[in-house]
Amino acid sequence: MKRISIKEYEFELLISEDKIRERVIELANQIDQDYANKRPILMLTLKGAIIFAADLMREITIPTQIETIIAKSYGYKMTTEGNVELIENPIDLEGKDIIIIEDIVDTGYTMSSLLNRLKEFKPSSIEICTLLFKPKNLVVPIKVKYVGFEIDPLFVVGYGLDYAELGRNYKDIYIRVDKN
Ligand code: IMP
Repeated sequence: MKRISIKEYEFELLISEDKIRERVIELANQIDQDYANKRPILMLTLKGAIIFAADLMREITIPTQIETIIAKSYGYKMTTEGNVELIENPIDLEGKDIIIIEDIVDTGYTMSSLLNRLKEFKPSSIEICTLLFKPKNLVVPIKVKYVGFEIDPLFVVGYGLDYAELGRNYKDIYIRVDKN
């Protein structure tokens, strides 16, 4: 089993590069169909979604606009709705179809803040596309239309996801395991 270590923790392979690739193509095909006559805005959340988004957008064949937003949640596992900071670019979203591209939805606080903020711009629609989803941890009721993989509520790194800003560069996704 492939393993990596980052700082004090060990991680083992959870989802291989090949499996991610297959699933990314399926998601892109789905988006192509659902937005066949539209010009959606892919709203990437930085930094976590950069690798997923870069792969996904190149598999999508309809014309899309790419925009970014920074969503910072302070203190993983201690997130409350109040401490998600959003840093946005001034863009016209009125009447637009937005697809938020996210790396992971955990408690849902980050996504809920993001949704509330984006709704203020009066887009015509907003959907969520997340690579990973931890349904058992979801606290805020949000509807996630496109999910790459549902996973157990454990900590993962790789393919854009970090532990203390490290590990985003790995091609596979790894899950934290106890050292032994
Ligand atoms: P939420 O607000 O609890 O849904 O958390 C969302 C954010 O927490 C994500 O955008 C990630 O930045 C971070 N996060 C949640 N779970 C993990 C994980 O397993 N690994 C790395 N980051 C995570």
